Amino acid sequence: MVSILLAEPRAKGPESLSDYQARGGYRGLQRWRQSGTPAQLLAEVAAAGLRGRGGAAFPTARKWQLAAAQTATEKHVVGNGGEHEPGSDKDKVLVERHPHAVLEGLLLAGFATGATQGHLYLIEDMHGPRQSAERAVQEAAAAGLLPFPVRVHCGPTTYVAGEETAVLNSIEGLPAKPRKKPPFPGEAGLFGKPTTVNNVETLAHVAWIARAGAAAFAAVGTAESKGTLLLTLPEGVRHPGVHEVAFGTTFRQAIDGPGGGLLAGRTLRGLLPALSTGFLAADQLDTPIAYETLRPLGSSPGCGGVRFVFDDTDVVALAVEIAEFFMREQCGQCPPCRMQTNQFVHVLKAVQAGKGPGYEDKLTKLAEFSRKKGNCSLIEMAAAPVLSALRVFAADFARAAGPAPQGS
Ligand SMILES: Cc1cc2nc3c(=O)[nH]c(=O)nc-3n(C[C@H](O)[C@H](O)[C@H](O)COP(=O)(O)O)c2cc1C
Repeated sequence: MVSILLAEPRAKGPESLSDYQARGGYRGLQRWRQSGTPAQLLAEVAAAGLRGRGGAAFPTARKWQLAAAQTATEKHVVGNGGEHEPGSDKDKVLVERHPHAVLEGLLLAGFATGATQGHLYLIEDMHGPRQSAERAVQEAAAAGLLPFPVRVHCGPTTYVAGEETAVLNSIEGLPAKPRKKPPFPGEAGLFGKPTTVNNVETLAHVAWIARAGAAAFAAVGTAESKGTLLLTLPEGVRHPGVHEVAFGTTFRQAIDGPGGGLLAGRTLRGLLPALSTGFLAADQLDTPIAYETLRPLGSSPGCGGVRFVFDDTDVVALAVEIAEFFMREQCGQCPPCRMQTNQFVHVLKAVQAGKGPGYEDKLTKLAEFSRKKGNCSLIEMAAAPVLSALRVFAADFARAAGPAPQGS
């Protein structure tokens, strides 16, 4: 089993500074600061092929370039641990168990981009991760490992607060709602200064790359999807929870390997790789988990918070539940998003109530109308699971909707 992020054997509690250092922790940072340049580190991360693990899979080095190119004397780097997607626990587990790996990655991202201040962003109800992160910052500061100050922030427990510009607003003490882009954070972010925002898992990968090298990282995974990713497997397998798998592992291998296999009597009809992605059917479970293999299927690895569809799952009810989540969690500031997420629930509930066909056309048109019309991509995230559910489980929706009412 590949283990880049979750040190084996699994530590019971948070990894201390001395334990992290005993397995090579902070050596990468020290080496790069002593004998490397920011541009060289940026090139190393580019060569590793690292993409962001916050869901959008943006190439990390390309994001860093924007902030690195700015001449401002004040720059920020933010570790985004604002995870609040149902079914995903990876960031909480990572920050709680391996806070120093995240912190070292943050310091490295800061080194590459010329940051003068660092921020670790978590959400209010993350008590364990918060304690862990605060202790790690104190330990690292006492050991003289911090080249710039790092603060731990806790934002509101909402989904949209994890969007990168909402994170910036939250740190500034403003309501945690996404900003209009451009300008991108790399140009004008926190307090108007160039800011790099990376997911905490991305940062932990950076720490490993800095220590082990781009070639070792790029040797794991597939052509376009390098390294490992953290998957959160739900109830229904013998070992639910957060597991690290190499890109290229199939869903079935992840379920049968680290997941320990499905519980007796459980049969999968499909799964959703993460809430804001597209459903896969049971005959697609042998698809390797990778950006390039899931894209043609209308899906993506997302943040790896897997949702199972069992043979007894009410798929229409599941679609309503997902649509209601996005309706509740949209922040209300962009009318197309408000309209789409509300209407999605309305139309899906009509299907549930057996009010006849026509729903597919309505939902597709709604999604087309709203596409790219929000400050953030929540609109598209809300559409992906619903539209893919209609495609993959078409018969379930047709059955629930029933025939057209007489006279219509
Ligand atoms: C509605 C919404 C919620 C998001 N929530 C998170 C989150 O909880 N954590 C996260 O890292 N990224 C989240 N993102 C993605 C971030 O905006 C951003 O792309 C990410 O933090 C960048 O890090 P990465 O390049 O390392 O992936 C969210 C995006 C949207 C639109």
